[in-house]
Amino acid sequence: MALITWTEEQYGTKVGFADEEHKTLFDLLNKLYDLATGGADRADIGNALDALIAYVVDHFAHEEREMQAKGYAGYDAHKVEHDALVGICADLQKKFHAGEADVTEDTGALVKGWLDSHIPEFDMPYADALNS
Ligand code: FEO
Repeated sequence: MALITWTEEQYGTKVGFADEEHKTLFDLLNKLYDLATGGADRADIGNALDALIAYVVDHFAHEEREMQAKGYAGYDAHKVEHDALVGICADLQKKFHAGEADVTEDTGALVKGWLDSHIPEFDMPYADALNS
């Protein structure tokens, strides 16, 4: 069963590019979670982890460009949130590839929990600004 499923009601931002990127991000997270909890080869888990983190970084950069282009007042607080998750991801990625950490159910729950609060609290509020 998928760790996280995109629905308009729970995750819709009313911003087209963001919704599409969130759906892709969810797909990459689900793939990683399935590999990590299904006993896949460590190399395959590592590739999925790298792909997810690279996508997250690109998605955040895209949102940040759009917010800055519109002079969005919530940009600074939003970027702090993004930078915090990128820091957590970079640390996990480094430790995973050094053999010092694994991707676990808890890792999936952590990222899902972050998305569950970040999208409603930070992404949804930028809709009017980004659609203006
Ligand atoms: Fe869609 Fe601010 O992350």
